[in-house]
Amino acid sequence: MNNEKYNSLSVVGTQWGDEGKGKITNYLSLKADMVVRHQGGNNAGHSISIDGKKYSLHLIPSGIFNPSVKNVMANGMVIDPLALVKELEILESQGIKDYQLFISDRAHVLMPYHIRLDGMYEELKGFRKIGTTKKGIGPAYVDKFSRDGIRFADLLDDELFQNLLKDNLLIKNKIFEAFGKEKFCFEEVYEKIISAREKIKKFITDTSLIVHEALENGDKVLFEGAQGVLLCIDHGTYPFVTSSSPTSSSIPVNVGIPLNSISKTLGVVKSYSTRVGKGAFPTEFENKISKKIREIGNEFGTTTGRPRRIGWFDANLVRHAARVSGLTDISVTLLDVLSGIDKLKICKSYLLNGKEIKYLPAGETDFNNLKPIYINLPGWKEDITNVKSFDELPKNAKKYLLKIEELTGVKVSQFSIGPDRNQTIDINQLFK
Ligand code: IMP
Repeated sequence: MNNEKYNSLSVVGTQWGDEGKGKITNYLSLKADMVVRHQGGNNAGHSISIDGKKYSLHLIPSGIFNPSVKNVMANGMVIDPLALVKELEILESQGIKDYQLFISDRAHVLMPYHIRLDGMYEELKGFRKIGTTKKGIGPAYVDKFSRDGIRFADLLDDELFQNLLKDNLLIKNKIFEAFGKEKFCFEEVYEKIISAREKIKKFITDTSLIVHEALENGDKVLFEGAQGVLLCIDHGTYPFVTSSSPTSSSIPVNVGIPLNSISKTLGVVKSYSTRVGKGAFPTEFENKISKKIREIGNEFGTTTGRPRRIGWFDANLVRHAARVSGLTDISVTLLDVLSGIDKLKICKSYLLNGKEIKYLPAGETDFNNLKPIYINLPGWKEDITNVKSFDELPKNAKKYLLKIEELTGVKVSQFSIGPDRNQTIDINQLFK
């Protein structure tokens, strides 16, 4: 549903992440006054290509390249200060020195022990190994919700920070000891975090006030989702999900702004599907075509380098994302990767125990047993990387986009035909 009060746009991934949100948010950030990241941490990885130069972002919002854009890391994030400092240093070495960054004082600090716990749990788990990015995301959110977390506001209060760290190490070191793992030394962790704090403390502030003020001023505010709706802790393919909610509906809580703050939600969908890590994937296939897609689409994880699993476009899955995240518009990315494939398939619904269904079942066994029902579409041979409008697309590429629109029930407002942000074509206007 469009909300006319503010001039804001939320961009969410609608599959299992890696839909090209980084490129799309970076493109949209050229039109924005503010870019807000609201969940997750450096499990995310965005590759951005600007004028042929490549950048890689994990924590920092995609508006960082534009000095006039305010970049906000909101309270819903879990932020590793050491990783953040490293990311800033890399950007600075690439010439990105003039930027505006604001870190929420209510965001949680992802600590070195969270990373070790993440790896340890993955090692110990049996059939429910998740295949996490091992960046400590799950354990950091566990501490947040068990009220053992350390927030950025606490980092600025040295005595409190020391006490919180001592308390946390008391418990965590018992766990490490029980599993025969190396314990953490207070002084070592303290020194590391404090030296990172010195670099970033000027950015720590109450970001809820800043974002709210921007909305009230009528500024163009872009909410940048990480991961994708199918990785949502509530509405994703649990337990093979991340530990936050990448939906648009989570934004008010994760940023500290009113319910009606989102004017539009743009769902970024890849023209096919990919997944990294474990978990069922109904339209997955492995053959010559998937290999070609992986190669041309460069389908290897930005964060872990793992080859991504490949599947056909799953309209059933995107319909689910459209409902739980309230999509008003869709951006179809990597359309160029499908050029040269003779016959394309789109999954329109599933067969479960002999019955056609048009929703995602919650049960793990049911989800594992889904059989996709496909419609076949003719492909196109033309190189489309230089087209400038929908009308310039080959007939079959147009048909493919219109089929996505029909099956998902959401209008396709944008498509993208290459890694450069200039290779993004607007069909409908997204910001007012
Ligand atoms: P975690 O977020 O590191 O705990 O990993 C949980 C699951 O989410 C794993 O399957 C990861 O591969 C997946 N995941 C986390 N972040 C991303 C992302 O940005 N893109 C794609 N998959 C992700």
